Amino acid sequence: MTGVNLGIPRVPAEPTAPNRPRPDTPALIDSFGRTATDLRVSVTDKCNLRCTYCMPAEGLDWMSNQQLLGDDELIRLIDIAVRLLGVTDIRLTGGEPLLRPRLEDLVARIAALRPRPRLAMTTNGIGFAKRAHAFAEAGLDRVNISLDTIDPDTFERLTRRDRLRHVLDALTAARDAGLEPVKVNAVLMRGINEHEATDLLRFALENGYHLRFIEQMPLDAQHGWNRSEMITADEILDLLRAEFTLTPSPTERGGAPAERWLVNGGPEEVGIIPSVTRPFCSTCERTRLTADGAVRSCLFSTTETDLRALLRGGADDEEIANAWRGAMWGKLAGHEINEAGFAQPIRPMSAIGG
Ligand code: 5AD
Ligand code: SF4
Repeated sequence: MTGVNLGIPRVPAEPTAPNRPRPDTPALIDSFGRTATDLRVSVTDKCNLRCTYCMPAEGLDWMSNQQLLGDDELIRLIDIAVRLLGVTDIRLTGGEPLLRPRLEDLVARIAALRPRPRLAMTTNGIGFAKRAHAFAEAGLDRVNISLDTIDPDTFERLTRRDRLRHVLDALTAARDAGLEPVKVNAVLMRGINEHEATDLLRFALENGYHLRFIEQMPLDAQHGWNRSEMITADEILDLLRAEFTLTPSPTERGGAPAERWLVNGGPEEVGIIPSVTRPFCSTCERTRLTADGAVRSCLFSTTETDLRALLRGGADDEEIANAWRGAMWGKLAGHEINEAGFAQPIRPMSAIGG
């Protein structure tokens, strides 16, 4: 077991908001002029893969059931987000979200909220194939499936599990269930799967999936991230250009993190998410809820706001909404990965959500 303790909130409380008073508006605004409308909800910190860029082989100290928000608690917070805080988009993440029992029911309950949010999920795909139709019927709109390699041996080396087939089946099932566009997230690791950048793109093009490469971020539980090891967005572009012509896509990027490139003149595209080398923090529209009920204004926040204590302490909806607004008002301008003295957050990615 590692020393990472995910349950006991050792994370300091959100600092008092900036000196400037928060204008009296219901939305999740911050002091830099951004409005968060996109809520990422981590429904579990558990995972059935062990991607080397994410967690150690032995896994982590998972949260207890008591620490986790129950379904009713989760729905109450998501309802507050869409009804009182202007959230329009919900994404379920993990850990691996499919490991949360009865996730289809949670999806149906979220889809029944008003105003109805758009509803997506980021999953590693294990076990998804047989549930894809049920999710679509429950109201899931779209899915992002993580796939870093299409080679079974590399898959096993990277995720420490022999499950490539399951992920490939998940992709087909998602497409068949109409959860489109099916997006594929890929992280390239030096010396492990970097040589597969073009294979992945060819595979995605052949199957109609939208591929996006994500720069590896310092969010692994073992704190093994190393800038010189990271494959940068520019390197990824160079790797792809060995086989494809890439030109900037005319599509408006908006608050989306991916830089989009037309492949061989289009209309197919490939996305690159240059989180480290070309941060997109200034257009960020995200707010995050962890599986144990903490609001984080950023993946890299070193502070968070505990909504679970408010919920379980009997707070009313407006009190909870106000705590959430306060947390977001204090959002920093951006992550400081590129600054001297950057400190990785205590929570690893798997306990924050993707
Ligand atoms: N850097 C970049 N992407 C990551 N993911 C997990 N950990 C990292 C990291 N350190 C990706 C997963 C998945 C999504 C949730 O985030 O591969 O696609
Ligand atoms: Fe699991 Fe996702 Fe982490 Fe891989 S990256 S171990 S799939 S939580």
